[in-house]
Amino acid sequence: MTDQATTAEADSAEIPGKPISASRTTLSHIMTHSDTNLLGTVHGGVIMKLVDDAAGAVAGRHSGGPAVTASMDEMAFLEPVRVGDLVHVKAQVNWTGRTSMEVGVRVLAERWNESTPPTQVGSAYLVFAAVDADGKPRRVPPVIPETDRDRRRNQEAQIRRTHRLARRRAIMELRAKRAAEGFDD
Ligand SMILES: CC(C)(COP(=O)(O)OP(=O)(O)OC[C@H]1O[C@@H](n2cnc3c(N)ncnc32)[C@H](O)[C@@H]1OP(=O)(O)O)[C@@H](O)C(=O)NCCC(=O)NCCS
Repeated sequence: MTDQATTAEADSAEIPGKPISASRTTLSHIMTHSDTNLLGTVHGGVIMKLVDDAAGAVAGRHSGGPAVTASMDEMAFLEPVRVGDLVHVKAQVNWTGRTSMEVGVRVLAERWNESTPPTQVGSAYLVFAAVDADGKPRRVPPVIPETDRDRRRNQEAQIRRTHRLARRRAIMELRAKRAAEGFDD
């Protein structure tokens, strides 16, 4: 059997699915003075790092190996986070493709000086690609949604995937058209 045939066979083999709950992760962190911006509240980049960390842990758990951030979109900051707040970053796989996964993340803050339930302060969607030892994309197990909420998130992730692909294709077409017209921009 040729290497090509072996690869094609491995490629079409079924990979058993994994339930969303098997990789769901929460990362918790207390905000300190070194996390602040000039206004004294927590810097958005600090939250984005935690979001990427939690989503990366989920992607690694789901895919059973290394995974890299391919894109991060719709990062929303809903409320300021303050020094002393205990931030919980909750992440789960919403959708899987052939080698990529969309991870949805919710960021909650437990206010250090209020006895109120945690407030949602942010959310984001990230796409991770599972990679092999050479950094090449490798297949991921299909994700199995378990609840109605999981199924809704899975359907919404497919809408975002369609939009991401359409946007990328439209931009590539525009660039090719401008290059053909002689623009060098
Ligand atoms: C992500 C990466 C592995 C994709 O490699 P590639 O050679 O373009 O491979 P492909 O085009 O086959 O893409 C692999 C998968 O990722 C998805 N993907 C690639 N770029 C994407 C993007 N910008 N947004 C969303 N999905 C993306 C593809 O749709 C594909 O998914 P599928 O197999 O489920 O259909 C590669 O671009 C890379 O290594 N990027 C750097 C990642 C990194 O270092 N991140 C940390 C930032 S410091």
